[in-house]
Amino acid sequence: MEFDIADASLAELGKQRIEWAGACMDVLSLIGNRFEAERPLDGLKIAACLHVTTETANLCINLVKGGAEVTLCASNPLSTQDDVAASLVNDYAIPTFAIKGESPDQYYRHIDALLDQHPTITMDDGCDLVSRLHSLRENQVKDVIAGTEETTTGVIRLKAMQQEGALKYPIVAVNDANTKHLFDNRYGTGQSTLDGIIRATNVLLAGTTVVVAGYGYCGKGVAMRSSGMGAQVIVCEVDPLRALEAKMDGYRVEPMAEAARKGDIFITVTGDKGVIRQEHFMAMKDGAMLANAGHFDVEIDLDVLEKLAQGRSRKVRPMVDEFTIGSDSDGGRNNTKRILVIAQGRLVNLSAAEGHPAAVMDMSFANQALAVEWAWRNANSLSPQVYPVPADIDTEIAALKLKAMGVAIDTLTDEQQNYLSSWQSGT
Ligand code: ADE
Repeated sequence: MEFDIADASLAELGKQRIEWAGACMDVLSLIGNRFEAERPLDGLKIAACLHVTTETANLCINLVKGGAEVTLCASNPLSTQDDVAASLVNDYAIPTFAIKGESPDQYYRHIDALLDQHPTITMDDGCDLVSRLHSLRENQVKDVIAGTEETTTGVIRLKAMQQEGALKYPIVAVNDANTKHLFDNRYGTGQSTLDGIIRATNVLLAGTTVVVAGYGYCGKGVAMRSSGMGAQVIVCEVDPLRALEAKMDGYRVEPMAEAARKGDIFITVTGDKGVIRQEHFMAMKDGAMLANAGHFDVEIDLDVLEKLAQGRSRKVRPMVDEFTIGSDSDGGRNNTKRILVIAQGRLVNLSAAEGHPAAVMDMSFANQALAVEWAWRNANSLSPQVYPVPADIDTEIAALKLKAMGVAIDTLTDEQQNYLSSWQSGT
């Protein structure tokens, strides 16, 4: 079996942690039990480009129970948990190609290693696997039956491919399922982003001003949890509707140019590039901390920050780089200031912490597992476009999660059901 991991001796720790996470993934486990009995994925070769975490390990293990052959690589160079990669190879015989801190070259070599296996299903987080397959392995595209995509950024890229007629097989947008983005993006990102910032810096959030750029579901979660920890929150947005939502949710809403002067901690969650750039660095306070929770490391313009620092940068904690900007040759008046960048501007929750907790990834990865099964069952009737997760799968996952949490809900009486389906009765 081919693989590329950092250190096989970490397998025992990895296995322990995978089992710990698995105990919080009840919905995925139920699906895995059914998969084991029915083997609905027999014959499928799944290439999974996902964050290599304990939760992803549980997804892969359950896909294998369903009969699939699974190979795994990382969807981000800094998010791999090396002990998990070791255990997947050692204890579960799942070929894994991922090393925390891998270079961009190695990252793409690992994606290529998956494509060398000629997958019939792609499972992507951010669309790098699909984009590489479509641009460099055109001859292989015909072998692929379907794919799934985990994240907002990936779905945006796929829709751009579809628009241009470039997408060559059907892909299910797992991100857009309600049981994914309403929970993973909001409560998962909300908690794990602060977890990453706190583990990296040990900062006390109470009393700080946190600037959140982007008020999608991820931004909503980050703002909500920052506020809950006692920070004053300023939201920056470009979309009038979302800005209005943020305002009525009780936050200050300002352009970044103004917020830059006030923030102690900046968190980007927009999915776009250059959100914090030169004019903002210049306006910031000494000691401002910057973190990114969007998929790619493009939201904070680090090239410009490096230029402004002119070599005056150093690592001040394992996950924190300090950049000194401004002039220090002004006759003794110290006009310099320090800007602190966490996790190199990469996904802070997965680079500096462990990503979203298993209990929320349970629903995201239940969607992944059921989306693959659905796409395979319906392969003959699907065309090359982005598909939503079917509503009945979404509802089933919500019902199973409630059950696992011990929460019962009401059902409609016949009279209520009739009332809802009749248009005659009004006032
Ligand atoms: N994305 C965010 N958190 C994650 C996790 N724990 N595992 C896999 N992907 C994730």
